[in-house]
This record gives sequence, structure tokens and C-alpha cells, in this order.
Amino acid sequence: MTVLADRTKLIKPSVTLAIAAKAGKLRAEGVDVVNFSAGEPDFDTPEHIKAAAHDALRKGQTKYTDVKGIEPLRAAIAQKYLAEYGLSYRKEDVLVSCGAKHSLYNLLQAVVNPGDEVLIPAPYWVSYADMALLAGGVPKLILTDESTGFRIKPEQLQAGLTAKTKVFFLNSPCNPTGATYSKDELLAIGQVLEKHQCLIFADDIYEKIIYDGFEVHNLIALCPNLRERTIIINGVSKTYAMTGWRIGYCLGASDIIAAAGKIQSQSTSNPTSIAQWAALEAVRGPQDAVAMMVSEFQKRRNVIVERLNTIPGISCLKPEGAFYVFPNISGLIGKSTNGKQLSSPCDVADFLLEEAKVAGVPGEDFGSQQHIRFSYATSLEDIEKGCGRIREAVAKLT
Ligand SMILES: Cc1ncc(COP(=O)(O)O)c(C=O)c1O
Repeated sequence: MTVLADRTKLIKPSVTLAIAAKAGKLRAEGVDVVNFSAGEPDFDTPEHIKAAAHDALRKGQTKYTDVKGIEPLRAAIAQKYLAEYGLSYRKEDVLVSCGAKHSLYNLLQAVVNPGDEVLIPAPYWVSYADMALLAGGVPKLILTDESTGFRIKPEQLQAGLTAKTKVFFLNSPCNPTGATYSKDELLAIGQVLEKHQCLIFADDIYEKIIYDGFEVHNLIALCPNLRERTIIINGVSKTYAMTGWRIGYCLGASDIIAAAGKIQSQSTSNPTSIAQWAALEAVRGPQDAVAMMVSEFQKRRNVIVERLNTIPGISCLKPEGAFYVFPNISGLIGKSTNGKQLSSPCDVADFLLEEAKVAGVPGEDFGSQQHIRFSYATSLEDIEKGCGRIREAVAKLT
């Protein structure tokens, strides 16, 4: 008997987890590892949000909720999009899930048929391609590099869209590159999409983590014709330092949201009730903590980019958003350490962990053979220490 279903073989184990496990083991042995691999803010969840969770507990809001999420939260999410982008959604067309990852999973399960193409600009967030595969889809990549600031060009999008394209992913600001589309760039992308009949999944999860006053725009607000085909995905994890609470959401066309909700109803049911009440406070309450975190991230981004660019063999763009840098380490590939040649980002990440005691995530997980992702959701002190150690380790390569 074959025990495991074929679908388990479709997806690969994450390189990220292997590095994280190795870093964890070193730390357990008492080694001082600088962690540049985290995909989450290092700040604590703001107090007023925690207080809302305490309140929910005290009031006994501990039962099943509506599968789609509590009504005030869905209403607050709809209100946020109205206030910020002038987009009007009914609360019925909002689905709250166990993290934006869960929203994306439900959505792909809801719309992808076997053989459908899922078009993904690369470098891309690790889970897009594997989730598409699990839904029976065929991930197709649009490759980008530093020459366009890791943004796709309209002609690349045009060339990538086929009659089989079911979903196009847009993630701005992007994990892992931090690349963010300007109004004109988004408009140009939208004009290409208007000529094709695919769905658009706009992953807005880093929408608020933006630097130097860069203005974030919404594709639907710019191209209203795309509204019925665009699903917005967002959540509270990154903006409010709430990764562990597991609250994400999506909003868009009623039939798609209803289908995603049906899938949720037969898997997790509602996300945790208490976390939903906390998320309501996050979305509706004061936003000063967000501004404080973003201002800290900006200082850290400036330092990490500046330090990395002084290291021979490494070059790093300054991203507009998110809390990652995606330095090009191709100058290190081909170099040797103790007679062993570094032949991939994975080798480089391994080397940096062993030699510099710095954990980063190799580019392979994001569809790149030339980069490594460093998260600067860590202290300035660690950023200085980590970059110093990388510099020393790299100097030893031959
Ligand atoms: C681009 C992107 N989308 C979605 C998610 C999922 O976020 P969560 O499930 O924590 O809400 C992440 C998390 O790393 C991400 O980087």
C-alpha cells in the first residue's frame, strides 16, 4: 500500500525550515547566532490589541463564531478599504481566515482546476508556487532582477499571460525583495491585465510597511474594470506584529469569497475567536504603534543596506517596503571555504551560518539562484554585529 498521497510529493520541504532548524540547534548549544531569517516583526503586539484579547476572554467570547469571521471585524475590514482606497465592499464579501496564508490557500483551492496556470512574478514568497501545485495548478514564473528593481515590466506580463492563466499574483511590497510598485507602474500592469480574463490575487500583507513616504496604490482603485476579477489578500500579522495570532483575510467578488468560505467551513471553521476580537482592535483602533515600528524598520533598512554594500561580492538594492533585503551574492558563488566550493545560495547561507553565525534564507526558496534574504526585523545592534561577521567570514573565502 502506498501510504502517502501523490500530492505530498508535489511540494518540496522548505529550505528556510532547514536553515532555521540548524540555527536553532546552534542556539541550543549556546552559540550566539544573529538571526536575519525571521519573517516577522521583532516587536511585541501593541498593548491595546492585547487588552482587546483579554477583554474578549473576560466576556466569554470563546465560542465558535461565524465561519467567515465575526461581523464587526468583517465590517471594519470593509471600512478600512473604503476609507483608505475608496473601495466599497459589503461585509458579506470579506472572509477572515487563520492568517493570510490560509486565505491564499482557500482561494487557490476555490479557483484552480488541474492544469490551470498560476502566474507568479519571481522572486516570490515561498508558498505561492507550492500552494498552486497543491491545488493542481501549474506555477509559471516571470523572472525579474535588479535592473527593474525586481518589478515586472508590462511586456513581460503580456508575454506570460496565456489562455490557461487562471491567477496572476501581485505582491507589493514584495517578500523577499521589498519591491513596491509605483502608481504608474501599477497602472501599466493593470492595463495589460484588462485585456486578459484571469483572476488577480493582490497580496497586500506588507501594505503599511513602506519607507521614505513612498505612496502605496491599489490596483482596483486605479483600474476599476479589474474589480470583479481581483481578490485582495491582507492580514494583521506583519502590520501589527501579530504573526502568532493567525488572522488574515480576503475580500472581493461574492462567488469567489463564498467558495473560499465553503472550503474553510469544511477544514478549520472560524479562526480563533479571541484573536478575531484582537484583530478588530488592530484594524479599528489607534495606529501609532504601526508608525513607530515602520520608522524603526526604516532606520534598520538604511543601515543594513549600507553595510552590506561595503562587503566585496555582495550588492544590495534599497527596497521601498517590507522588512527584508535581498542582496545579490553571486560574487561569492564559485569561491571556496576549506577546499569546498560555494555553488549556490544554499551553500552561501550554510557557510554564513557555520562561519559567521548569521542565519539568512537562501534564494532558492524564492526562485533565485543569486540571492539570499536577510530580514532586518531585528535590533540595530544585531544588524551591525551580523554585517560585521559576514564581512569577516567573506574575507576568508578564496
Ligand atoms: C507575501 C506574504 N503573503 C502572505 C504571508 C502570510 O502571512 P500570515 O499567514 O502570517 O498572515 C506572508 C508571510 O510571511 C508573506 O510574506
